[in-house]
Amino acid sequence: MSGYKVFAVAGASGKVGKAILDELLRVQPELELEVRIITRKEGGNAAKDTDSLEKRGAKVYAVNYDERETIVHALEGVDVLISCFGATGFGLQLLLVKVAAIAQVKLYVNSHWGAPMDEYRYGLTHMSIKDEPIKLAQEVFHLPWTLFRVGIFPEFCIPFPVTELNLNSRKVVIYGDGQTPNSWTTIPDVARFAVYVLTHLSPSQLQNREFNIEGDRKTFNEVVQLYIAKHPGEFQVTYKPVNVLEEMVKKSEGKDFFHALMIEYATGRVAHDPTKLDNKEFPGWNPKQVVDTL
Ligand SMILES: NC(=O)c1ccc[n+]([C@@H]2O[C@H](COP(=O)([O-])OP(=O)(O)OC[C@H]3O[C@@H](n4cnc5c(N)ncnc54)[C@H](OP(=O)(O)O)[C@@H]3O)[C@@H](O)[C@H]2O)c1
Repeated sequence: MSGYKVFAVAGASGKVGKAILDELLRVQPELELEVRIITRKEGGNAAKDTDSLEKRGAKVYAVNYDERETIVHALEGVDVLISCFGATGFGLQLLLVKVAAIAQVKLYVNSHWGAPMDEYRYGLTHMSIKDEPIKLAQEVFHLPWTLFRVGIFPEFCIPFPVTELNLNSRKVVIYGDGQTPNSWTTIPDVARFAVYVLTHLSPSQLQNREFNIEGDRKTFNEVVQLYIAKHPGEFQVTYKPVNVLEEMVKKSEGKDFFHALMIEYATGRVAHDPTKLDNKEFPGWNPKQVVDTL
Protein backbone atom coordinates (compact mmCIF):
# COMPACT_ATOMS: atom_id res chain seq x y z
CA MET A 1 0.00 0.00 0.00
CA SER A 2 1.20 3.50 -0.77
CA GLY A 3 -0.05 4.82 2.56
CA TYR A 4 -1.35 7.89 0.71
CA LYS A 5 -4.76 8.78 2.11
CA VAL A 6 -5.53 12.36 1.10
CA PHE A 7 -6.03 12.90 -2.64
CA ALA A 8 -6.79 16.16 -4.44
CA VAL A 9 -7.95 16.29 -8.05
CA ALA A 10 -7.54 19.51 -10.04
CA GLY A 11 -9.79 19.56 -13.10
CA ALA A 12 -12.15 16.94 -11.70
CA SER A 13 -14.96 17.87 -14.07
CA GLY A 14 -13.08 17.10 -17.27
CA LYS A 15 -13.02 13.84 -19.24
CA VAL A 16 -10.11 12.35 -17.31
CA GLY A 17 -10.71 14.19 -14.04
CA LYS A 18 -14.29 13.01 -13.70
CA ALA A 19 -13.26 9.38 -14.21
CA ILE A 20 -10.43 9.70 -11.67
CA LEU A 21 -12.82 11.31 -9.19
CA ASP A 22 -15.44 8.58 -9.71
CA GLU A 23 -12.84 5.89 -9.08
CA LEU A 24 -11.43 7.63 -5.98
CA LEU A 25 -14.94 7.95 -4.57
CA ARG A 26 -15.66 4.31 -5.40
CA VAL A 27 -12.69 3.05 -3.35
CA GLN A 28 -12.96 5.80 -0.73
CA PRO A 29 -14.91 3.83 1.93
CA GLU A 30 -12.76 0.71 1.66
CA LEU A 31 -9.43 2.55 1.66
CA GLU A 32 -10.56 5.36 3.98
CA LEU A 33 -9.48 8.12 1.65
CA GLU A 34 -10.10 11.82 1.83
CA VAL A 35 -10.94 13.09 -1.63
CA ARG A 36 -10.68 16.77 -2.46
CA ILE A 37 -11.59 18.60 -5.63
CA ILE A 38 -9.80 21.76 -6.68
CA THR A 39 -11.93 23.87 -8.97
CA ARG A 40 -12.00 27.44 -10.19
CA LYS A 41 -14.04 29.72 -7.92
CA GLU A 42 -15.13 31.71 -10.97
CA GLY A 43 -16.65 29.53 -13.66
CA GLY A 44 -15.31 26.22 -12.35
CA ASN A 45 -17.49 23.31 -13.42
CA ALA A 46 -17.01 21.40 -10.18
CA ALA A 47 -17.70 24.57 -8.18
CA LYS A 48 -21.20 24.65 -9.67
CA ASP A 49 -21.82 21.06 -8.56
CA THR A 50 -20.47 21.47 -5.03
CA ASP A 51 -23.58 20.18 -3.25
CA SER A 52 -23.92 16.98 -5.24
CA LEU A 53 -20.16 16.31 -5.16
CA GLU A 54 -20.03 16.77 -1.40
CA LYS A 55 -23.02 14.43 -1.00
CA ARG A 56 -20.93 11.82 -2.82
CA GLY A 57 -18.10 12.21 -0.30
CA ALA A 58 -15.74 14.73 -1.90
CA LYS A 59 -14.63 18.03 -0.35
CA VAL A 60 -14.76 20.85 -2.85
CA TYR A 61 -12.17 23.63 -2.67
CA ALA A 62 -13.01 26.54 -4.94
CA VAL A 63 -9.77 28.40 -5.61
CA ASN A 64 -8.63 31.45 -7.47
CA TYR A 65 -5.45 30.57 -9.37
CA ASP A 66 -4.39 34.22 -9.08
CA GLU A 67 -4.49 34.03 -5.30
CA ARG A 68 -1.85 31.55 -4.28
CA GLU A 69 -3.04 31.28 -0.67
CA THR A 70 -6.39 29.80 -1.80
CA ILE A 71 -4.52 26.92 -3.44
CA VAL A 72 -2.10 26.50 -0.54
CA HIS A 73 -5.12 26.16 1.75
CA ALA A 74 -6.69 23.55 -0.55
CA LEU A 75 -3.46 21.54 -0.61
CA GLU A 76 -2.58 21.59 3.07
CA GLY A 77 -2.37 17.99 4.29
CA VAL A 78 -2.72 16.52 0.78
CA ASP A 79 -0.62 13.43 0.00
CA VAL A 80 -1.27 13.21 -3.75
CA LEU A 81 -2.27 16.01 -6.09
CA ILE A 82 -3.61 14.70 -9.41
CA SER A 83 -3.72 17.23 -12.23
CA CYS A 84 -6.34 16.52 -14.89
CA PHE A 85 -6.20 19.94 -16.50
CA GLY A 86 -7.09 20.15 -20.14
CA ALA A 87 -5.07 22.15 -22.67
CA THR A 88 -6.25 25.58 -21.50
CA GLY A 89 -5.02 24.82 -17.98
CA PHE A 90 -1.59 23.33 -18.87
CA GLY A 91 0.25 26.60 -18.15
CA LEU A 92 -1.21 26.65 -14.65
CA GLN A 93 0.46 23.40 -13.76
CA LEU A 94 3.71 25.25 -13.07
CA LEU A 95 1.83 27.09 -10.35
CA LEU A 96 0.35 23.84 -9.05
CA VAL A 97 3.85 22.38 -8.72
CA LYS A 98 5.15 25.42 -6.89
CA VAL A 99 2.22 25.48 -4.46
CA ALA A 100 2.28 21.70 -3.99
CA ALA A 101 5.93 21.99 -2.96
CA ILE A 102 5.10 24.77 -0.49
CA ALA A 103 2.23 22.72 0.94
CA GLN A 104 4.52 19.65 1.18
CA VAL A 105 2.38 17.46 -1.02
CA LYS A 106 4.07 14.06 -1.24
CA LEU A 107 3.37 13.25 -4.90
CA TYR A 108 2.36 15.35 -7.89
CA VAL A 109 0.62 13.62 -10.82
CA ASN A 110 1.06 15.62 -14.02
CA SER A 111 -1.71 15.95 -16.60
CA HIS A 112 -0.25 13.82 -19.37
CA TRP A 113 -2.80 11.04 -19.96
CA GLY A 114 -1.75 10.87 -23.59
CA ALA A 115 0.52 9.41 -26.22
CA PRO A 116 3.93 7.96 -25.48
CA MET A 117 5.90 10.49 -27.50
CA ASP A 118 9.43 11.15 -26.28
CA GLU A 119 9.91 14.17 -28.51
CA TYR A 120 7.50 16.57 -30.15
CA ARG A 121 7.85 17.04 -33.90
CA TYR A 122 6.17 19.04 -36.63
CA GLY A 123 3.55 21.42 -35.21
CA LEU A 124 3.59 19.73 -31.83
CA THR A 125 6.56 21.50 -30.25
CA HIS A 126 4.25 23.59 -28.07
CA MET A 127 3.19 20.34 -26.39
CA SER A 128 6.41 20.48 -24.39
CA ILE A 129 4.31 22.70 -22.09
CA LYS A 130 2.93 19.38 -20.83
CA ASP A 131 6.37 18.29 -19.60
CA GLU A 132 7.56 21.57 -18.09
CA PRO A 133 5.91 20.93 -14.69
CA ILE A 134 7.89 17.71 -14.36
CA LYS A 135 11.19 19.51 -14.94
CA LEU A 136 10.22 22.15 -12.40
CA ALA A 137 9.11 19.54 -9.85
CA GLN A 138 12.24 17.48 -10.21
CA GLU A 139 14.97 20.05 -10.78
CA VAL A 140 13.80 22.99 -8.71
CA PHE A 141 11.44 21.76 -6.01
CA HIS A 142 12.49 18.11 -5.62
CA LEU A 143 8.80 17.31 -5.54
CA PRO A 144 8.19 13.64 -6.43
CA TRP A 145 6.06 13.22 -9.55
CA THR A 146 4.26 10.55 -11.54
CA LEU A 147 2.62 10.56 -14.96
CA PHE A 148 0.59 8.15 -17.06
CA ARG A 149 1.06 7.59 -20.80
CA VAL A 150 -2.03 5.76 -21.97
CA GLY A 151 -2.34 5.99 -25.76
CA ILE A 152 -5.62 7.00 -27.39
CA PHE A 153 -9.02 7.14 -25.66
CA PRO A 154 -11.18 5.14 -28.15
CA GLU A 155 -14.56 6.32 -26.86
CA PHE A 156 -13.51 9.96 -27.23
CA CYS A 157 -11.23 10.02 -30.28
CA ILE A 158 -13.12 7.70 -32.65
CA PRO A 159 -16.40 9.66 -32.69
CA PHE A 160 -14.61 13.02 -32.39
CA PRO A 161 -15.75 14.75 -35.60
CA VAL A 162 -12.41 16.26 -36.67
CA THR A 163 -10.62 12.89 -36.69
CA GLU A 164 -12.82 11.83 -39.65
CA LEU A 165 -13.02 8.40 -38.04
CA ASN A 166 -16.63 8.57 -36.90
CA LEU A 167 -17.46 4.95 -37.63
CA ASN A 168 -21.19 5.47 -37.12
CA SER A 169 -21.20 7.67 -40.22
CA ARG A 170 -20.00 4.56 -42.14
CA LYS A 171 -17.69 6.77 -44.18
CA VAL A 172 -14.25 7.38 -42.69
CA VAL A 173 -10.83 8.70 -43.56
CA ILE A 174 -7.81 6.81 -42.30
CA TYR A 175 -4.53 8.65 -41.94
CA GLY A 176 -1.57 6.80 -43.42
CA ASP A 177 -2.09 3.25 -44.65
CA GLY A 178 -3.99 2.17 -41.52
CA GLN A 179 -1.55 -0.65 -40.84
CA THR A 180 0.36 0.91 -37.97
CA PRO A 181 -0.61 -0.28 -34.49
CA ASN A 182 -1.65 2.27 -31.87
CA SER A 183 -2.11 1.94 -28.12
CA TRP A 184 -5.67 2.46 -26.89
CA THR A 185 -7.07 2.67 -23.37
CA THR A 186 -10.58 3.73 -22.33
CA ILE A 187 -10.88 6.59 -19.86
CA PRO A 188 -12.45 4.53 -17.01
CA ASP A 189 -9.67 1.94 -17.42
CA VAL A 190 -7.06 4.69 -17.20
CA ALA A 191 -8.71 5.90 -14.00
CA ARG A 192 -8.90 2.42 -12.49
CA PHE A 193 -5.23 1.81 -13.24
CA ALA A 194 -4.05 5.17 -11.92
CA VAL A 195 -6.06 4.99 -8.70
CA TYR A 196 -4.99 1.40 -8.10
CA VAL A 197 -1.26 2.08 -8.39
CA LEU A 198 -1.48 5.37 -6.47
CA THR A 199 -3.11 3.57 -3.55
CA HIS A 200 -1.37 0.16 -3.72
CA LEU A 201 2.23 0.67 -4.82
CA SER A 202 4.86 1.91 -2.39
CA PRO A 203 5.95 5.55 -2.64
CA SER A 204 9.34 4.45 -3.99
CA GLN A 205 7.58 2.58 -6.83
CA LEU A 206 5.59 5.70 -7.70
CA GLN A 207 8.00 8.58 -7.33
CA ASN A 208 9.50 10.10 -10.48
CA ARG A 209 7.98 7.39 -12.59
CA GLU A 210 6.27 7.30 -15.95
CA PHE A 211 3.64 4.57 -16.26
CA ASN A 212 3.11 3.23 -19.76
CA ILE A 213 -0.18 1.43 -20.13
CA GLU A 214 -2.22 0.01 -22.98
CA GLY A 215 -5.71 -1.45 -22.81
CA ASP A 216 -5.61 -2.66 -26.42
CA ARG A 217 -3.33 -2.49 -29.43
CA LYS A 218 -4.97 -2.09 -32.81
CA THR A 219 -4.32 -0.55 -36.21
CA PHE A 220 -6.90 1.77 -37.74
CA ASN A 221 -7.69 -0.88 -40.35
CA GLU A 222 -8.35 -3.41 -37.59
CA VAL A 223 -10.64 -0.96 -35.79
CA VAL A 224 -12.66 -0.48 -38.97
CA GLN A 225 -12.84 -4.25 -39.60
CA LEU A 226 -14.02 -4.84 -36.03
CA TYR A 227 -16.71 -2.20 -36.47
CA ILE A 228 -17.95 -3.69 -39.74
CA ALA A 229 -18.04 -7.19 -38.21
CA LYS A 230 -20.12 -5.85 -35.33
CA HIS A 231 -22.35 -3.60 -37.48
CA PRO A 232 -22.49 -5.19 -40.96
CA GLY A 233 -23.41 -3.14 -44.01
CA GLU A 234 -21.98 -0.79 -46.56
CA PHE A 235 -18.91 1.09 -45.41
CA GLN A 236 -16.56 3.48 -47.18
CA VAL A 237 -12.91 3.96 -46.28
CA THR A 238 -10.52 6.42 -47.91
CA TYR A 239 -6.90 6.98 -47.01
CA LYS A 240 -4.97 10.20 -46.51
CA PRO A 241 -1.30 9.34 -46.96
CA VAL A 242 1.32 10.66 -44.54
CA ASN A 243 2.97 12.81 -47.24
CA VAL A 244 -0.36 14.64 -47.75
CA LEU A 245 -0.58 15.31 -44.00
CA GLU A 246 3.04 16.49 -43.99
CA GLU A 247 2.29 18.89 -46.81
CA MET A 248 -0.70 20.31 -44.88
CA VAL A 249 1.41 20.84 -41.77
CA LYS A 250 4.23 22.40 -43.80
CA LYS A 251 1.85 24.83 -45.51
CA SER A 252 0.44 25.88 -42.12
CA GLU A 253 3.98 26.72 -40.96
CA GLY A 254 3.59 24.36 -38.05
CA LYS A 255 0.24 25.76 -36.90
CA ASP A 256 -1.78 22.76 -38.02
CA PHE A 257 -1.60 20.98 -34.69
CA PHE A 258 -4.30 18.47 -35.54
CA HIS A 259 -2.71 17.02 -38.70
CA ALA A 260 0.70 17.05 -36.99
CA LEU A 261 -0.83 14.82 -34.33
CA MET A 262 -2.41 12.63 -37.00
CA ILE A 263 1.04 12.09 -38.56
CA GLU A 264 2.10 10.67 -35.20
CA TYR A 265 -1.02 8.47 -35.08
CA ALA A 266 -0.29 7.23 -38.60
CA THR A 267 3.39 6.51 -38.05
CA GLY A 268 3.16 4.52 -34.84
CA ARG A 269 4.37 7.12 -32.39
CA VAL A 270 1.19 6.71 -30.39
CA ALA A 271 2.07 3.07 -29.79
CA HIS A 272 3.96 1.85 -26.77
CA ASP A 273 6.96 -0.38 -26.98
CA PRO A 274 5.18 -3.61 -25.91
CA THR A 275 8.25 -4.71 -23.93
CA LYS A 276 8.04 -1.60 -21.76
CA LEU A 277 4.45 -1.72 -20.57
CA ASP A 278 3.55 -1.30 -16.91
CA ASN A 279 0.16 -3.06 -17.14
CA LYS A 280 1.40 -5.75 -14.76
CA GLU A 281 1.54 -3.26 -11.89
CA PHE A 282 -2.22 -3.76 -11.55
CA PRO A 283 -2.52 -7.55 -11.60
CA GLY A 284 -6.32 -7.61 -11.84
CA TRP A 285 -6.56 -4.95 -14.53
CA ASN A 286 -8.89 -6.20 -17.25
CA PRO A 287 -9.17 -3.21 -19.58
CA LYS A 288 -11.83 -3.01 -22.26
CA GLN A 289 -10.84 -3.64 -25.86
CA VAL A 290 -11.50 -1.09 -28.61
CA VAL A 291 -14.23 -3.37 -30.00
CA ASP A 292 -16.16 -3.06 -26.72
CA THR A 293 -16.52 0.68 -27.37
CA LEU A 294 -17.71 0.40 -31.00
N1 LIG B 1 -5.26 10.15 -24.74
C1 LIG B 1 -6.22 10.81 -25.34
O1 LIG B 1 -6.82 10.34 -26.32
C2 LIG B 1 -6.63 12.15 -24.80
C3 LIG B 1 -7.77 12.80 -25.29
C4 LIG B 1 -8.15 14.00 -24.73
C5 LIG B 1 -7.39 14.57 -23.70
N2 LIG B 1 -6.26 13.92 -23.26
C6 LIG B 1 -5.44 14.49 -22.18
O2 LIG B 1 -6.14 14.34 -20.94
C7 LIG B 1 -5.81 15.40 -20.06
C8 LIG B 1 -7.10 16.01 -19.51
O3 LIG B 1 -7.82 16.56 -20.59
P1 LIG B 1 -9.41 16.64 -20.59
O4 LIG B 1 -9.80 16.69 -22.04
O5 LIG B 1 -9.96 15.59 -19.69
O6 LIG B 1 -9.61 18.07 -19.92
P2 LIG B 1 -10.86 19.06 -20.06
O7 LIG B 1 -12.08 18.23 -20.11
O8 LIG B 1 -10.63 20.02 -21.19
O9 LIG B 1 -10.71 19.96 -18.74
C9 LIG B 1 -10.37 19.45 -17.50
C10 LIG B 1 -10.65 20.41 -16.37
O10 LIG B 1 -9.56 21.35 -16.22
C11 LIG B 1 -10.03 22.49 -15.60
N3 LIG B 1 -9.66 23.66 -16.47
C12 LIG B 1 -9.88 23.80 -17.79
N4 LIG B 1 -9.39 24.97 -18.22
C13 LIG B 1 -8.85 25.56 -17.16
C14 LIG B 1 -8.19 26.78 -16.96
N5 LIG B 1 -8.00 27.65 -17.95
N6 LIG B 1 -7.78 27.06 -15.72
C15 LIG B 1 -7.97 26.19 -14.71
N7 LIG B 1 -8.60 25.02 -14.85
C16 LIG B 1 -9.03 24.70 -16.05
C17 LIG B 1 -11.54 22.45 -15.47
O11 LIG B 1 -11.91 22.19 -14.13
P3 LIG B 1 -12.85 23.20 -13.31
O12 LIG B 1 -13.85 23.75 -14.30
O13 LIG B 1 -13.50 22.36 -12.26
O14 LIG B 1 -11.96 24.26 -12.74
C18 LIG B 1 -11.86 21.31 -16.46
O15 LIG B 1 -13.02 20.63 -16.12
C19 LIG B 1 -4.94 16.36 -20.85
O16 LIG B 1 -3.59 16.15 -20.52
C20 LIG B 1 -5.19 15.98 -22.30
O17 LIG B 1 -4.12 16.25 -23.15
C21 LIG B 1 -5.89 12.74 -23.78
